[in-house]
Amino acid sequence: TIPARDLTGLPKAHLHVHLEGAMRPQTLADLADRYGVVVPQARGFGSFAVFLDLYLAACDLLRDIADLDRLTREVVQDAARDGAVWVEPSIYPMHHVRLAPVEEIVGVVVDAGLSAARECGIGFGLMVGANRTQSPAEAADLARVAARAAGRGVVSFGLADDETSTPPEPFAPAFALARDAGLLSAPHGGELAGPDSVRGALDALAARRVQHGVRAAEDADLVRRLADEAVVLDVCPTSNVLLSVVPSLERHPLPALLDAGVRCSVNADDPLLFGCSLLSEYQLCRDSLGLSDERLAAVARASIEGSGASQPQRRDAL
Ligand code: ADE
Ligand code: ZN
Repeated sequence: TIPARDLTGLPKAHLHVHLEGAMRPQTLADLADRYGVVVPQARGFGSFAVFLDLYLAACDLLRDIADLDRLTREVVQDAARDGAVWVEPSIYPMHHVRLAPVEEIVGVVVDAGLSAARECGIGFGLMVGANRTQSPAEAADLARVAARAAGRGVVSFGLADDETSTPPEPFAPAFALARDAGLLSAPHGGELAGPDSVRGALDALAARRVQHGVRAAEDADLVRRLADEAVVLDVCPTSNVLLSVVPSLERHPLPALLDAGVRCSVNADDPLLFGCSLLSEYQLCRDSLGLSDERLAAVARASIEGSGASQPQRRDAL
């Protein structure tokens, strides 16, 4: 038998990873200890609301600019360890405005990310994200900050949090601002809400990537459109299972989406909370979703091609 190839060596991009949700367990423990905070140790959430409590606990532990610097560097190092040639974490800067103004938060994360990426020999780009439970005006303000940092470390604009709270359409002006500055549109969609949310992300936000997007599989016309328009879905299998987006891993739509010609990347979403990593998600796709090495290579290629890396950076990676 041919030994299973180590998927670390497969050049890939990590495109769907929330910075705070990617905190190392040891860093969480260090910060909790330093600040005298008791952190809930829950896993196996089942619902987004329960999950969010722990996510916000991690956010709350970032109490100094140096904590944000450390977190960012470690997220880049972990991506490099897993064989990423590009990492594109997302941040919702409003979580951190008690530390510094939004511009400065973005600047600190970009500087830390670019510096760590240089040390690791990989590429880094930041996704600035808006929060769909907050106002479209706040999203537009964040888009303006992101736009000013386009070409200086910020490469994409996102939209996260509870998808059942607000459809994509009200955020169209924010995404127009971001796109006009050359940022890639990469909102969450098709996770907690169905195909309409993905269609809205395409029509109203001109999404070139959709974070998750897996519930598009419920609509054959939409699946065809995603394939035709070469939209990349940033899929996170473990996250989908633990948040009950899919009934079981065995019934995850990733293989069917790939069969239909939809470009998909594979990602960890929130490694701290889901106990996974970029590499473990690739391994899971091979071991439990039956993706062949050829398929995994196509996924990895789609992740690089769908990334916010510049053309020369992508050419070097492929
Ligand atoms: N923020 C962090 N993880 C998220 C997810 N899976 N969906 C929406 N918002 C998030
Ligand atoms: Zn996410």
